[in-house]
Amino acid sequence: MNSGVFEFEKKLSWDIKSNDLENVAKHFKKTFKDEFSIATTGKKDAPKIIIELTSGDKQTDAYQMTVSSKQVLITSSSTNGIYYGLQSLYQMIHTAVNADRTIACCKIDDQPRYPWRGIMLDESRHFYGKEKVMEMIDMMAMHKINIFHWHLTDDPGWRIEIKQYPLLAKVGGKGCESNPDAPAAFYTQKEIKEIVAYAKERFIEIIPEIDMPGHARAANQAYPEFCGGGSESHPDFTFNPGKEGTYQYLTNILREVAELFPSKYIHLGGDEVHFGNKQWATDPDVKKLQKREGLKDLKEVEYYFLNRMADSIQSLDKKVFGWDEIAYAGLDNSISSVMWWRHDKVKQLKDLLKMEYPLILCPRIPLYFDFDQHESHTYGRRWGGFADLPKVYAFPSEEFLSDLTNKDQIKGIQANIWTERIKDNKRLDYMTYPRLSAMAEAAWTIDQTKDYDSFLKRLKNMYTIFEERGIYYFNTFDPSSTPEPEGHKK
Ligand code: ACM
Repeated sequence: MNSGVFEFEKKLSWDIKSNDLENVAKHFKKTFKDEFSIATTGKKDAPKIIIELTSGDKQTDAYQMTVSSKQVLITSSSTNGIYYGLQSLYQMIHTAVNADRTIACCKIDDQPRYPWRGIMLDESRHFYGKEKVMEMIDMMAMHKINIFHWHLTDDPGWRIEIKQYPLLAKVGGKGCESNPDAPAAFYTQKEIKEIVAYAKERFIEIIPEIDMPGHARAANQAYPEFCGGGSESHPDFTFNPGKEGTYQYLTNILREVAELFPSKYIHLGGDEVHFGNKQWATDPDVKKLQKREGLKDLKEVEYYFLNRMADSIQSLDKKVFGWDEIAYAGLDNSISSVMWWRHDKVKQLKDLLKMEYPLILCPRIPLYFDFDQHESHTYGRRWGGFADLPKVYAFPSEEFLSDLTNKDQIKGIQANIWTERIKDNKRLDYMTYPRLSAMAEAAWTIDQTKDYDSFLKRLKNMYTIFEERGIYYFNTFDPSSTPEPEGHKK
């Protein structure tokens, strides 16, 4: 351990030891300059930031940082690692700028607990647009979150342009949860490419979700010929698994999606099909399918559909993600991964682990950020509990994990921002921050080194970052100072 401090000053200089780091350096030179008014080239003896790639794992997120009085040295065997090291330095400098402009000398050897550190945003229920999404990507990057799961289709709205089926966006994009008459809102393919590139530059992979066979009302309004019906509470909820044309239609859609998103995954949802598959029982095409394939009930029809679509995804050279309902569909675990979200279905989690599916943990409590985080709040969901900051930070606890086998299959954790009740940017901020900070640290830090008090101290610095960026976070230290913004009451 070094003693003393690194004093940064206007003449801060950079020493970039590997050509592969030029882009990362460029990004941070700009960030540091914009944020801290420090020059990026300087005198020979000016304090230095040195970044250097070492030999070893090119995929790792680990990095090492040594702060001494004249220099900060960040090393990693991967560009991601260097990027995360610089994000840590950014936060240290940010804290210091608001204090005595020094960083205590130290040696850090840092690596994440999980390779998957995710945030899901539902833009079907409410649409926030490119600028807000890019801001979220910036905040994710600052927190070393590396996965953005984008829930682009659901009942209220279809939010992605598909060239072969233009009505999906033009007709299916109309309306949202709080206003069925809202004009069509969706991302053009050009915008999607821009956002994907923006995220990539920040080491964030975007996983698109096209939800099926349920949660399909918006699509069915655009192309009713592929509708499989719904229920009174969930009209036009499903695609029709009995029509061969449905598989072609959905595969054509996924082909365009596959081209837009470089990720190896496509998420095909698969959740809550029972909400609205009643009409399958009487649909002549579904009946024919059942007879032909020997499918004894609607659950088997659902699993048949999922297997067909998994084949399509594989034919597009991608892998499948699904919600935990797909557990017993018999999908091959070498091409399929699952997100466990129903916190009351622990047996199923255990089954999924036994079946060796790569698994992401995102249980409603505490990782659904549409849930209330404080007893004074009234617009969020509760369903028997809060998803407050300490609970988010503590997840997954040793106690939770102690009961599980095959824990190596747990690839990470993810917070899901469902937006039925989040009608605008202000409320989106409020529900996201600072819980995102707690989730990020929970995903990065092993239980033994987690320290909630230390987290709270650092959170104060994060609050100044939120304020500088105009983000309306929930102030956990002084709840009455940040009144709850109105939400949409369902
Ligand atoms: C879900 O919350 N329906 C995955």
